Amino acid sequence: MKHKFYVKDCPEDDVVHTWIRKQTDLQYYMDNMKPVNTDKKFLSFTQPNIDLLKVQQSCESAFEKFGFFGFLNIYGSEMFRDETYGGLSLVYNPNYKFQKNIEPNAQTLGYPRNNMDLDFVIENLDIWKSIMVAELDKHFWRRCTKYGKHNAFKYAHEHKAITDEQLKMLLEKYKDEKNIKEFIIKNTYQDSWSFNHLTDVINHEYLSEITKLFKRSFIRSRLAKLQQLDNDEVRKNVNDYMWHRDDSIFVEARINLSVTSPENAFGMELEGDDRYYLQPGKWYSWDTGITHRPFADKTKLTRTNLVYAVSPWFDYIKEEDAWVSNEFFGKKHPIDMFIEGDIVEGLEFIS
Ligand SMILES: [Fe+2]
Repeated sequence: MKHKFYVKDCPEDDVVHTWIRKQTDLQYYMDNMKPVNTDKKFLSFTQPNIDLLKVQQSCESAFEKFGFFGFLNIYGSEMFRDETYGGLSLVYNPNYKFQKNIEPNAQTLGYPRNNMDLDFVIENLDIWKSIMVAELDKHFWRRCTKYGKHNAFKYAHEHKAITDEQLKMLLEKYKDEKNIKEFIIKNTYQDSWSFNHLTDVINHEYLSEITKLFKRSFIRSRLAKLQQLDNDEVRKNVNDYMWHRDDSIFVEARINLSVTSPENAFGMELEGDDRYYLQPGKWYSWDTGITHRPFADKTKLTRTNLVYAVSPWFDYIKEEDAWVSNEFFGKKHPIDMFIEGDIVEGLEFIS
């Protein structure tokens, strides 16, 4: 059965992919479907037709032409752009709620969760990581917004992500604030599928050759650069802050093309799995719903990645502003889609 959803029908207090998930069997497959081609969690690929040198040159000239936007700090109460991590957006949402303040080429580079003081994340990174590992983080945010911080702490405690002592400490230390604004999330940063229009960056010079290889609809994607980790203290700090989760691979299937990465300097670590160093020219994918972090083992170096995300099972119809399920829905795991070339033309699985 084909599903079709018009974005205009999605209520203001939901995001498109969640709204669609609730009306289909998507959650069932997310919980039960396993890939058939591999049981590896971190996958690497090549695409022999892509000329790495030309990719590197085009990324450089893209930064010269369009600039560099530091990632917006999402944890603090103040809005500032990170100096070490940032880049350029490959896609944008023409109906983005914050377009007055954020230009299209910066839309997928963070937005502050400015509805409350989130110092407790910065001050309790270990607790925050256990909340993510228990996969409670998304509900945790919703509870913070809807019912207040204390409700969210208790929720994490009930699900055993935090201990009795930690709960006591958090309740004493942090005020019970909640969002007093209206609960609108459609067309905000959380609405991953609404970043579906291409910016000029994605087709800049040779990058258009890569864009052409994609068979699925782009969503939240970026050209990302991590740079200038001045000393070991900064490096360790950045590594500690980097643990996070993104959407499930069924909602957002991501593949990273490593553009520049000096030897044994940068990599990706998956919780409960391993650490993997990035090699320029290789493409990497994993289920970003698993807690993970990019890491740096060396200082004073730069890493550049093209981070492409697609919606694996729903294709976007621009003319109708609608999402329609494709032939892979409920049939093929997104990891198998990568391996079998259903997402990127000519991609070859290495391991
Ligand atoms: Fe991530």
